[in-house]
Amino acid sequence: MKIGIICVSDRCYKGECDDKSGPAIAECVKPLCSESVYRLVPDEKDMISKAITSLADEEKCEVIFTTGGTGFAPRDVTPEATKAVIEKEVLGISEAIRAKSLEITDRAMLSRAVSGIRGGSLIINLPGSPKAVKESIEVVLNVLPHAVETLGGNTQSCGGNYGK
Ligand code: MTE
Repeated sequence: MKIGIICVSDRCYKGECDDKSGPAIAECVKPLCSESVYRLVPDEKDMISKAITSLADEEKCEVIFTTGGTGFAPRDVTPEATKAVIEKEVLGISEAIRAKSLEITDRAMLSRAVSGIRGGSLIINLPGSPKAVKESIEVVLNVLPHAVETLGGNTQSCGGNYGK
């Protein structure tokens, strides 16, 4: 599976700190990942949207994770940048991440993360901290192979009469 990782952070972009969440994503997806592409962008809506479309349309990443910019801070615009470029919203993934995360911290309700589909790519917003990244990815890791398979048009493994 080709995975895209986008770190959204003004501070990392300016070189004021190192991105620890991007590497945390790479570590979590290792069992599924054949190839990965990484981008670092500031909290600028257009730059985030462009990074997503580049990883989806040109790099053909099957799953794209963003980390950061999902909260309430004035410059947090990752969900808006994502909504601007997805064709279908996937409510279930973000709902599942929030529901499981709420078992760990009440602050999970402060993430406005969204997920969606653009072409053959599934895009998933994650919060910014490495801890939150790990807790969130754990929730979705098991369903990713099936999600990517169905996104690619293979519905055989759904177990129903899909596509007949
Ligand atoms: N989700 C999990 N699983 N674990 C966490 O520690 N932190 C929350 C939330 N989601 C957290 C979490 C906090 S404190 C915030 S402010 C929001 O994610 C938004 O984070 P972001 O602005 O870095 O994207």
